[in-house]
Amino acid sequence: MSKAHYLSPWASNISPSPTLAVDAKAKALAAAGEDVCGFGAGEPDFDTPEFIKEACVKALREGKTKYAPAPGVPQLRSLLAEKYQKENGIQGLEASQVVVSPGGKFSCYLAILSVIGPGDEVVIPAPYWVSYPEMVKLAGGVPKVVFAGQEAGFKIDPDQLRAAITPKTRLVILNSPSNPTGAVYSRAELEALVDVALEKDVYVMSDEIYEYLLYDSVSHHSPASFSKEAAERVITVSGFSKTFSMTGWRLGTLVAPAPIAKAVAALQSQTSSNATTFAQYGAIAALEHADQSRAAVGEMLTVFDRRREKLLAGLQAIEGIECARAQGAFYLFPKISGLGVDSDTFATRLLEAEKVAVVPGAGFGAPDYMRLSYATSDSVIEKGLARLARFCSALA
Ligand SMILES: Cc1ncc(COP(=O)(O)O)c(C=O)c1O
Repeated sequence: MSKAHYLSPWASNISPSPTLAVDAKAKALAAAGEDVCGFGAGEPDFDTPEFIKEACVKALREGKTKYAPAPGVPQLRSLLAEKYQKENGIQGLEASQVVVSPGGKFSCYLAILSVIGPGDEVVIPAPYWVSYPEMVKLAGGVPKVVFAGQEAGFKIDPDQLRAAITPKTRLVILNSPSNPTGAVYSRAELEALVDVALEKDVYVMSDEIYEYLLYDSVSHHSPASFSKEAAERVITVSGFSKTFSMTGWRLGTLVAPAPIAKAVAALQSQTSSNATTFAQYGAIAALEHADQSRAAVGEMLTVFDRRREKLLAGLQAIEGIECARAQGAFYLFPKISGLGVDSDTFATRLLEAEKVAVVPGAGFGAPDYMRLSYATSDSVIEKGLARLARFCSALA
């Protein structure tokens, strides 16, 4: 092979994100004039709240256009430390334990890079967010997938976790509320998993990016708040994308024991330097004006909840599809294996025949399922459901 086409093992082995690919395909079809019903996007369809945008514009006007300190603007780190202590119950947190990154995705990657070396194993509950196994492989680690299907509420139990941990295990990834299933672990369920991690002396990465997107009165719990010992073992990652409709801003967060936060800041200083400086001022406004933020999130949740009910009822009415009631994030993850086709074929044919975009479950480690996001309009949900029902009855 010509050297001009040489790709590293990392570049040649990585799969591109299937969720971004579906979204790009749907957007390209729509740009070409097709009437596409997109259920692929993992982003709220609302605009960023005006007061957050204004704070960013003000920062730009004031010349906040230079490098920021690698781990983040000090005021933002302090506000985040305060939020995680007061709201999430993580005790004794210092601002130095907080790192702001260009996106929650990068926060996850840095967390993994900071504790995983070649050959180390990482337990990943499936269905999982598409990027976890790829990030683990990029860090030289080995993903150990533990599956929990619809019957188990898409939640792994302590026995499964214990059985998956070997002397090479370094990290367990938890994600509640979950992408792609919308499952939310109870406090008792999380405590039982964290107990196993502590007993086996492995780290936990808790991805809490959907912490505010909860329905049916369920609550969110941060594993790092469970005990002093847990705070020493848990890396909490999150970001502003989902809560405040800030996907394009690229702002992620990480809270970790001091030595890990320090290592993450060093990794960031040698890779991305810092999250965009003026964008961080928008995040400061989101945290400083908690009342306005709560109101904006509350409005969004009311709309999401209505759409969730609509999509759930519509999916449950289609023969061959089994859909559980998800209580978090903005996804439903129905089982479609009853229709007799694998999820990749199903999604490809559905997009071709009916111009409905869904993400096949294979990329989430669950080929019997597909993911639909209800972060889309009511009219798309109604139209998309009618097309989906027609497509499924033609398959039967
Ligand atoms: C579970 C989970 N974690 C992290 C992220 C990263 O989000 P962002 O990089 O936009 O902050 C996403 C985005 O889809 C996600 O679903």
